[in-house]
Amino acid sequence: MTNLTGKQIVLGVTGGIAAYKAAELTRLLRNAGASVRVAMTRAATAFVSPLTFQALSGNPVHTELLDTEEESAMGHISLARWADLVLIAPATADFIARLRIGLGDDLLSTVCLATRASIAVAPAMNQAMWDNPATQENVRCLSDRGVRILGPAEGDQACGEVGLGRLLEPQRICDELESFFGDGALAGLSVLISAGPTREPIDPVRYISNRSSGKMGYALAEAAARAGAKVSLVTGPTALKAPRVNEVSWVESAAEMYRCIMSKVPSADIYIGAAAVADYSPETAADRKIKKDQLEMVLTLRKTQDILSAVSALPKRPFTVGFAAETDDLENYARQKLVAKSLDMVAANWVGRDEGGFENDDNALFVCWNGGDTYLPLASKKTIAEQLIHLIAERYHAQNSAKDSR
Ligand code: PMT
Repeated sequence: MTNLTGKQIVLGVTGGIAAYKAAELTRLLRNAGASVRVAMTRAATAFVSPLTFQALSGNPVHTELLDTEEESAMGHISLARWADLVLIAPATADFIARLRIGLGDDLLSTVCLATRASIAVAPAMNQAMWDNPATQENVRCLSDRGVRILGPAEGDQACGEVGLGRLLEPQRICDELESFFGDGALAGLSVLISAGPTREPIDPVRYISNRSSGKMGYALAEAAARAGAKVSLVTGPTALKAPRVNEVSWVESAAEMYRCIMSKVPSADIYIGAAAVADYSPETAADRKIKKDQLEMVLTLRKTQDILSAVSALPKRPFTVGFAAETDDLENYARQKLVAKSLDMVAANWVGRDEGGFENDDNALFVCWNGGDTYLPLASKKTIAEQLIHLIAERYHAQNSAKDSR
């Protein structure tokens, strides 16, 4: 079994000399357990025969948008729906530009327009074409929309030049897709995650906030999606690019976050509270900018609603995971929080030490649950998120199989 086992991949081949490498890629993807359907642009068929891909994929190859026979068998909409992932490899500069502006004038571009699956693009072109500002802008735009860009690699090119623009080696593309798909530990489950800070307004220009960057919560959202979950992320203001998950809701204050989470939690199987929600908020926010004409100023703060406690107190509650950010006595506070808020799990991190926490790219966690605990030592937030998601999946499934056997 690999993370690609059972995955349905539409492999889009466009017209460049690297098209021959897509044949090896097809073989590798199938060996890894994926089902592959190949869609070729007309130009690609001038480089490699569709028959090659038919033999290697074990499926008919799709080339024409308006081929009625093909349409009735599996047309562009069915292909788009069938795919767990649309992978374009190699992707020419021309195809990347067409993908960016949303053209639908051939089979492959239409599949890309019609699919709700993730799209990955492995560019291959002459190094000057890759370097061209138009191509760079197109790639940036696709990446901002959540298209995964794989490569290109650097080296000798078919045209005799040397530079960036070679198709990534097929094995490397396969490895990237393996980590993209994760292992399905949360397949079929809905996960609701909060991330980032909140902003509590003082007046129209000032607010109280904290140092959360959103990195931990966003990494968890992506890891949960890679583990097969349907992910809804509720985030306070951050400077990060929205992660590629099913739904992202932006909120500002603790009160907005509370309302948003409580409206979404009924459909969640798992809730992870990674946001640094303000504990206190100004009792009133001035509707005009407060002038600095007084020597002293007193702000009255009022406790915000505790979202985590509200979620865990629901009669039909999801598996509820809280975070704890502590400057001392980490383990004790984490265990206390587990009981006091009747949570299923607490992930506690240090703040104010060289062990990750706020803003850092790295983190370390002490994780506890009823009947166990573990340390996740300092690593990138991506790695820590993957480890925590797997712990959550393990505990979630253990708890549910115990319920089922009662
Ligand atoms: O965003 P980064 O820069 O990557 O940093 C990550 C992080 C340090 C913010 C994250 O790992 C983390 O620890 N998040 C929780 C921070 C926090 O607010 O800790 P706390 O101990 O104050 O709160 C405990 C829990 O109660 C948290 O799950 C929090 O989401 C929740 N809470 C708190 C207050 C409130 N009104 N409602 C809540 O739900």
